[in-house]
Amino acid sequence: MPIFPLDPRNPDRDVLRRAAELLRGAELVAFPTETVYGLGANALDENAVQKIFALKQRPSYNPLIVHVEDEDAAQSVVESWPQSARDLAREFWPGPLSLVLPRRAGVSDSVTAGLKSVAVRAPAHPVAQMLLRECGVPLAAPSANRFTCLSPTTAQHVAGAFPDLFVLDGGACAVGIESTVLDLSGATPILLRPGAVSQAQIVAIIGPVGLPSDYSGDAPRPSPGLVEKHYAPRAELFIVPPNQLHARLEKNTVSNRKSGVLSRDATDLKNPGGLHHIVTMAQDAIDYARELYAALHALDAENCVEILVEEMPDGEAWRGVRDRLSRAAKK
Ligand code: TXA
Ligand code: MG
Repeated sequence: MPIFPLDPRNPDRDVLRRAAELLRGAELVAFPTETVYGLGANALDENAVQKIFALKQRPSYNPLIVHVEDEDAAQSVVESWPQSARDLAREFWPGPLSLVLPRRAGVSDSVTAGLKSVAVRAPAHPVAQMLLRECGVPLAAPSANRFTCLSPTTAQHVAGAFPDLFVLDGGACAVGIESTVLDLSGATPILLRPGAVSQAQIVAIIGPVGLPSDYSGDAPRPSPGLVEKHYAPRAELFIVPPNQLHARLEKNTVSNRKSGVLSRDATDLKNPGGLHHIVTMAQDAIDYARELYAALHALDAENCVEILVEEMPDGEAWRGVRDRLSRAAKK
């Protein structure tokens, strides 16, 4: 199915109506959010949600985020709305922060993967907001990619993975990596997934926030799906310290391994015969995140065999990007 552009300043009402009809009829629609494109289904309809898992080939133990218009709508899917949620929603919604809270009955069991909690967020993208308003139901939406693959930040990325899908096109995503996920369902808030809303920003509003304990062993996972290889391009991806990048690329030149490189300072990398694809990335973490998935999609499209990513700086600002790339590098 084709891509349907939707200009929020001058929306084509027919397109919007058609998308909402599909969703109310238990079909899937991909839509833009400020983070990445989502694969949406009516969160209250078990049949519709099942289609997400089938299309993405996503394991059923990995729960979905429910997208809502605002705080009021969020309260229709959660059992309680504590002061911490209130304060965070006032500060960061609509925006890239998902809150995990005890679930309310009515939310499809597959949305929560059988957990007693549910993740909710109000997206900031005007097209996502229009769609939520038009269809009048909360939308379960994971990133609109196949399980473990690269997340989409354009409508074209989505259509590349799912050619038959109805895709609303709202342009390239401004944030570029998935939302921060914060678990408010236990005694201490836990940051399950780093994103554009930082731990420091959250701490400033609600006080201390913990990190997931070591769940690599047999302990139950705080967020199913958190540990797998994820966000990965087809090419094998390696994170390389800046001082080793030159040698590593040279080796691939000798062995004729077509490589993609993401570097913040690519000026003296040698690329004889133009074998490799060298992408100069932004210096700033926010801009880097916005460009990241599109750059990786492009290197896959070039059929690079290997992707060498120059190691990112330490520090809080880079945490979301570091998290995604280290999981993309997992075997
Ligand atoms: O930015 C985003 O969050 C995007 C856009 C489309 O909104 N969505 C997204 O969804 O990244 P997805 O399915 O790719 O990631 C959802 C994450 C997973 O890591 C999942 O384990 C976690 O949220 N999650 C969902 N419900 C949860 C729950 N009840 N408890 C703990 N973690 C949960
Ligand atoms: Mg995803």
